[in-house]
Amino acid sequence: MMNILIFVPLMLVLHFICGNQPRLRDGNITFHTQSKTWAKAQTYCRTHHTDLITIRKETADLPSNYHGWIGLHREWTVHEEWRWSRGDEKLTFSKLSDDSSAENCVYLNNNNDWIKDQCDHEKSFICYDERLVLVEENKTWEEALEHCRTMKKMKNYTLATLKTTDDHDFARKKAQQATTEEVWTGLRYLGDQWFWVGGEPVQYQNIPSCPDERCGVLEKNSKSSFGIRDCNERRNFFCYLKP
Ligand SMILES: *[C@@H]1O[C@H](CO)[C@@H](O)[C@H](O)[C@H]1NC(C)=O
Ligand SMILES: *[C@@H]1O[C@H](CO)[C@@H](O)[C@H](O)[C@H]1NC(C)=O
Ligand SMILES: *[C@@H]1O[C@H](CO)[C@@H](O)[C@H](O)[C@H]1NC(C)=O
Repeated sequence: MMNILIFVPLMLVLHFICGNQPRLRDGNITFHTQSKTWAKAQTYCRTHHTDLITIRKETADLPSNYHGWIGLHREWTVHEEWRWSRGDEKLTFSKLSDDSSAENCVYLNNNNDWIKDQCDHEKSFICYDERLVLVEENKTWEEALEHCRTMKKMKNYTLATLKTTDDHDFARKKAQQATTEEVWTGLRYLGDQWFWVGGEPVQYQNIPSCPDERCGVLEKNSKSSFGIRDCNERRNFFCYLKP
């Protein structure tokens, strides 16, 4: 079968707060017309992109020619639960109507409606590439950096820079799924100065100039924009693709 890939970078987010444009929320959405079961579509997206698409409230409606499997599926654990394939977000926003039937996977139709269907049906599907990725593994800062750098062969991930207010808000929201209280970022002190491994200038005015500890974290349950910790501690971390 013809394997056509329509590739359109889309600005996922429509809300613009003055001077605080979302950077890390943006991603690329790709529509794949070849038909696959939900599970095979998931494998494909995880291999070539980040995952099957997660649709958030702030996600713009997709073009009407984008239809097919999305990341939403029902898992039967202790009790049934609708989850996104990416696993790092609970279902906080839903366009699913009746919840009674036995179908466990969801596709998007031409009207941007979410429809339940059997997971082994074959359909086109929608993948996305994510800029900010929470890795739920416990690593030292250096190991985390290495992990990010090797994350996707063709792409350029590294430990994440949090720059704007929106970056911090978005990252903190994502960090709620982390298994550690704090999550490594790309903030680092070396050779008498602070820098982001992503290359952006460090914007924090209140950062200590002679720190005892030299690696940056985001604390998921505080309001501060950064914390500083011993680089050899192990925790979850944020990788990102430079905007
Ligand atoms: C989106 O696509 C553009 C153009 O190919 C690319 O430069 C950018 O890195 C992609 N972004 C993501 C998040 O994959
Ligand atoms: C990471 O560390 C946290 C806190 O110590 C722990 O709860 C969690 O299970 C660990 N995760 C892994 C994958 O080892
Ligand atoms: C990744 O980023 C680094 C530093 O910004 C740059 O030197 C390198 O060429 C980039 N690699 C790719 C594959 O884009």
